Amino acid sequence: MNFLDVILSRRSIRKYKKDKIPETHIKSILEAAMNAPSRKNERPWHFVIINNRKILDKIPLFHLNSRMLYEAPMAILVAGDLTVTRDIFIAIDCSASTENILLAAHSLGLGACWLGIYPDEDRMKGIKELLNLPESVLPISLISIGYPDEGKPQINRFEQNRIHYNGW
Ligand SMILES: Cc1cc2nc3c(=O)[nH]c(=O)nc-3n(C[C@H](O)[C@H](O)[C@H](O)COP(=O)(O)O)c2cc1C
Repeated sequence: MNFLDVILSRRSIRKYKKDKIPETHIKSILEAAMNAPSRKNERPWHFVIINNRKILDKIPLFHLNSRMLYEAPMAILVAGDLTVTRDIFIAIDCSASTENILLAAHSLGLGACWLGIYPDEDRMKGIKELLNLPESVLPISLISIGYPDEGKPQINRFEQNRIHYNGW
């Protein structure tokens, strides 16, 4: 797949096979994550790999739109260090990193879904407590990842009327 095809065919995958993800794939995904652009190249991100079934099963108790985690073999939390930069820039930088994770996973034949954490107070509190995050770490997004057990059609969402030249 060329890179534009990777972007255009990526979809949120919420059903997974039980197969574990090879370490080499996890490394490639994290390499993509850490090579996202960030403001002033501050790279405030940290990543928590969650592959413990007991921990994964606790997340849907406080994040009701994350029930796919009952099936997913792993998830990655993207979080940012508040001693590096402030919350709004952490959210922006970690979102760029999250998109890289989604695209890298898809290019490796994996399925993934972005699960929003920030700025939902209950989700932020729940994940902070579950994973023992330090006070100075702001959780932004969680990505469920696994080998896909569903197919989704490519949808082209290009809309000419969203484009403006040299002004609105
Ligand atoms: C900030 C953000 C938060 C999201 N949170 C969730 C979520 O909590 N649960 C979920 O199932 N999908 C979540 N999604 C995935 C969106 O629902 C999905 O990207 C959107 O419906 C478009 O579908 P597609 O990814 O298949 O193109 C989130 C996406 C973004 C960008």
